[in-house]
Amino acid sequence: NRPKVLVTRPDIPAAGLNLLKEQCDVILWEKPEPISRSVLLSKIQNVDGVYCLLTDKIDEEVLNTAGPQLKVVASMSVGVDHLDLQALKKRNIKVGYTPGILTDATAELAVALLLSTSRRLIEANRAIYKGEWKAWSPTWMCGPGLSGSTVGIVGLGRIGTQVAKCLKGFNTAKILYTSRNIKHEAIQFGGEKVELDTLLKRSDFIIVTTALTPDTRQMFNKNTFQKMKKSAIFINVSRGDVVDQPALIEALKNGIIRAAGLDVMTPEPIPLDNELLKLDNCVILPHIGSAAIETREEMSIITAKNIIAVLKGVPAEMPSPLQL
Ligand code: GLV
Ligand code: GLV
Repeated sequence: NRPKVLVTRPDIPAAGLNLLKEQCDVILWEKPEPISRSVLLSKIQNVDGVYCLLTDKIDEEVLNTAGPQLKVVASMSVGVDHLDLQALKKRNIKVGYTPGILTDATAELAVALLLSTSRRLIEANRAIYKGEWKAWSPTWMCGPGLSGSTVGIVGLGRIGTQVAKCLKGFNTAKILYTSRNIKHEAIQFGGEKVELDTLLKRSDFIIVTTALTPDTRQMFNKNTFQKMKKSAIFINVSRGDVVDQPALIEALKNGIIRAAGLDVMTPEPIPLDNELLKLDNCVILPHIGSAAIETREEMSIITAKNIIAVLKGVPAEMPSPLQL
């Protein structure tokens, strides 16, 4: 009697999907777009496990519909803000996620986004096609350099730490961070733990790598943007909801800050008529932080193994359990 597992997208890497198919009966959502709420509610009935993505909201209603045989929900992501952890814990459902393996890929993307924003890569590239490149020019397309700058990392976890290590290689002068506790690994890059206000006032580059929680929701708002330097560059690779987006748009339009680079926003995908897409001082990416080929493969394998361990009756063998 093979366990039944719902997989909420067809194009997950074959490595993980095949692993799952060896051990379980896989019910695959076959369309390329995220599974709709109503289909999720119908397909989750009678399954023993769920392989989900950050686009799937797993809440009380979904879990009530699923029924008592559901033993594991594994998300192919490090962020778990789409999962109602209380509701899962209450039902003793095991939760898997994929921290660690995507740290390097996401940090790489954060650095790429930072440089694209500060050195105006997208804007400069577009300028060529618009025929605006007339000659080499002493002042055209200039932006602030990293060398000698102060970088602030908001929510120094695995990803933030890796970003900091990379940026030290660009001869940054100082790295500040916020975190609930002092991070000993910050010694490696001379990081200084400060209060958020201090970080906002002193940083030339502000990089957000915090998880989305009730405490961090909308932590970047009119008030916090006002505290930043007018020359500040704001980078977000965490979740769109840590930002009050209309306030960010105002800050970018009115020169409250210089520029922003966003891999995450609200909503995703962003509607094509959104103001953010009209601003030259905003670089926007379609949430591709972990999109390194090997990383996505590894994420699929870990997610499958998280599910298989629980359904074989040995949750202790989950490679990446989330402690609830
Ligand atoms: C991506 O945002 C993730 O949470 O893995
Ligand atoms: C996520 O992996 C983090 O802790 O930054």
